[in-house]
Amino acid sequence: MKIAVIGSNGQLGSDLCSVLSHKHEVLELTHADIEISDVDSINQVVSSTRPDIILNTAAYHVVPEAENYPQKAFSLNAISALNLARVCQDKKIRLLHYSTDYVFDGLKNAPYVETDRPNPLNVYAVSKLAGEQFVLNYCERSMVVRVSGIYGKIASRAKGNNFVSMMLKLAKEKPEVRVVNDEFLTPTPTLAIAKNTAALIEADTRGLFHMSCSGEVSWYEFARHIWDVLGLDTPLFPASVKDFPAVVKRPYYSVLENKALKDLSVYEMPEWREALTQFLLTTYK
Ligand SMILES: NC(=O)c1ccc[n+]([C@@H]2O[C@H](COP(=O)([O-])OP(=O)(O)OC[C@H]3O[C@@H](n4cnc5c(N)ncnc54)[C@H](OP(=O)(O)O)[C@@H]3O)[C@@H](O)[C@H]2O)c1
Repeated sequence: MKIAVIGSNGQLGSDLCSVLSHKHEVLELTHADIEISDVDSINQVVSSTRPDIILNTAAYHVVPEAENYPQKAFSLNAISALNLARVCQDKKIRLLHYSTDYVFDGLKNAPYVETDRPNPLNVYAVSKLAGEQFVLNYCERSMVVRVSGIYGKIASRAKGNNFVSMMLKLAKEKPEVRVVNDEFLTPTPTLAIAKNTAALIEADTRGLFHMSCSGEVSWYEFARHIWDVLGLDTPLFPASVKDFPAVVKRPYYSVLENKALKDLSVYEMPEWREALTQFLLTTYK
């Protein structure tokens, strides 16, 4: 298969390229190679390279910033996704687009399946939900993959960090670190997402998929495990979301149940703790 990866030097994109290149021809597309807010740029790249499938990792995903720049969030997360969907439909190319657990409001307090009704609480999440719907409704051979709490060897380009790299920085610079113990997610390494994406695209299917590690954890427990595995000395304390000023509304519970992948028998994600231990030992020890 010829696979184009948009955002190939990003956190998720870089792992997708390294995993998929074992078996496929991978076209690595950085922002310098393609501008997805520009349909002509997409058409030009697609016409000259003719991929079988496009994977889109590009996003405007600094959540507090999106509140101040909703046009930018909608331009990249929604309109650019529509651009890709239209070109892929026109050229009969498959499209896989990544989205987020933040499309949910968290009030369910139990793992979300793909058929649960989204209720995004902030600009970023609303724009990502719009992008999902453009992709699924404008491109017949499309998939949307929602991921949660991602971390990889290369920190997110848009954010300049991920939770692991941010915790290590705080542990180095601060006398103590406080992390919320009442907001729940499933930490998931981008390498695991890349491997399960490889299995999903082989399945030649379409639709909406949740893709996260198994298990659930608070941000504090996520941090605690980093401290334990790497033997960090800086004191780490649990805190409440109420202890921090709320810049933007977020779901307090955004755990994903990976039902659609399990139904297709292509669920290959590890348990969150085992995956994090492996990541920390290979990246930092
Ligand atoms: N980070 C999380 O915890 C999290 C949680 C849930 C879901 N997600 C989703 O996961 C996906 C991947 O996130 P990530 O952390 O891997 O992102 P990232 O590291 O910021 O990578 C995004 C890539 O897209 C490129 N890009 C940005 N704007 C573009 C444009 N207009 N045209 C073409 N390329 C463009 C970026 O290039 P430049 O940097 O050069 O502009 C970068 O290479 C996103 O869809 C995000 O919404 C993330």
